[in-house]
Amino acid sequence: DKTHVYKFNVSWVVASPDDPDADENSTKPVIGINGKWPLPVMEATVGDRVIVHLLNLLETEPTSLHFHGLYLRNETHMDGPVHVSQCTIPPGSSFTYNFTVNEPGIFWYHSHVHGQYPDGLRGPLIIHDPDGPFADKYSEARLLTVSDWYLDKMPNLIARFMSKANPTGAEPVPDLGLFNDEIDASIMVSPKTTYRFDVINMGAFASVYLWFEGHNMTIIMIDGIYTHPVEANMIYVTPGQRYSFLITTKADGSANFPFVGSMDLSFNPNITGWLIYDEDNNWPDAAKLDGSFNPVDDFDLTPLDDQPLFGEPNQVVQLDVMMDNLGDGANYAFFNNITYVPPKVPTLYTVMSSQDLATNPVVYGTYTHSTVLQKDDIVEIVLNNLDPGIHPFHLHGHDFQVVWRSEDDAGTFQDSGITLSDFARVPMRRDTVFVHPNGNLVLRFKADNPGVWLFHCHIEWHVQSGLMATFVEAPLEIQQSLTIPPDHLDVCKKMGVPTGGN
Ligand code: C2O
Repeated sequence: DKTHVYKFNVSWVVASPDDPDADENSTKPVIGINGKWPLPVMEATVGDRVIVHLLNLLETEPTSLHFHGLYLRNETHMDGPVHVSQCTIPPGSSFTYNFTVNEPGIFWYHSHVHGQYPDGLRGPLIIHDPDGPFADKYSEARLLTVSDWYLDKMPNLIARFMSKANPTGAEPVPDLGLFNDEIDASIMVSPKTTYRFDVINMGAFASVYLWFEGHNMTIIMIDGIYTHPVEANMIYVTPGQRYSFLITTKADGSANFPFVGSMDLSFNPNITGWLIYDEDNNWPDAAKLDGSFNPVDDFDLTPLDDQPLFGEPNQVVQLDVMMDNLGDGANYAFFNNITYVPPKVPTLYTVMSSQDLATNPVVYGTYTHSTVLQKDDIVEIVLNNLDPGIHPFHLHGHDFQVVWRSEDDAGTFQDSGITLSDFARVPMRRDTVFVHPNGNLVLRFKADNPGVWLFHCHIEWHVQSGLMATFVEAPLEIQQSLTIPPDHLDVCKKMGVPTGGN
């Protein structure tokens, strides 16, 4: 097993995914690494160790990095969300992430300071699996990131979004869509070859319908979980989700083809990319859109390991999603009337300093929306979306079983008259799943990873407006097994955050 060491100097850089010949109004400063943007692809193999030495060279903003989808077993302090498992890293400070990667698949890394990653601080993280079940089924892999893009900087957009000038909470509309951080991406292929495509939605807001004209996909993995192969013409990818699929190219390479990401927002442009067999071929016409979208239903994708439905839960957590105004006229998002407010002391550090009290959710404060779990609890989340929008929910440190998902407008789970026998026997498993507008969702996971883990909507606007909850999993075991490294405590000291004598 290898150790991969990354030195990431994080700073503002001048870069633009837009047409370099376009006028200056369509470029903006973005957050780069080592003076560059797009960001590097992090790569390792199952069993390896990854070390990231981050130095924050942003002028005024604090930062952090989260490794989306990794379990980080016994390494919850390396997960990255600020106010949860670390303090913010102030400008001029360094911080080291150091963890092992024990699960194969396609992941990504992004800032976990509210509202920051859409300014550019997000990139792919690939954990190779040379002995994986599909490793001999393709010749080469092709990475395809997809992302919405705003031309204004997030701090400006957030100020408008969270103001009384926006009492309905309407999310800012992206200006562009990107494939591989370009507006006009091409992917070279050869005829008669099977490729593995790895798709990551690194966007802030827009889910994307994705298809390749003239080519079928065979899905083999979602969010780091191998699936039984399923044929698809189209997939639907929300922010935070990943899909891997095989595409076998045509025997005849005399034509090129478009592939399309249609943003799930009627007012947005489609993103077109090009599958290039030969640069001398005639350029294809842009894709024809007939307005009907029929993606494969991820609820029907079953894990290749056939892990059965977990048994009866020891803990049922009901979360009702609502959006509402508070006294200041700005719109907020709520789970059960609680809009998340970051605690001064990161929740993990409160675990470390509270001794036996750490099992009492009260010590974490009302606004972290904390639930304390015992080791190996089977936890059921019943999520009622009382809002007319789609929300992609992500759980840190785990995959969950998606045991039930209603259609649009089904109301609450209690109202839908579902019984256990309607639950999937071998449920789909992933780490980010969407709930339909005014629909409901039932998830189960096993609390087998002591740590402090967020559960939140991955629409960055909704993170900003408080749609987050915290699971404090086996706090007494965390106290026994974890030591917080000195550089992590140093950034707290610089930020004036007491960490309770850790
Ligand atoms: Cu990719 Cu808490 O997020």
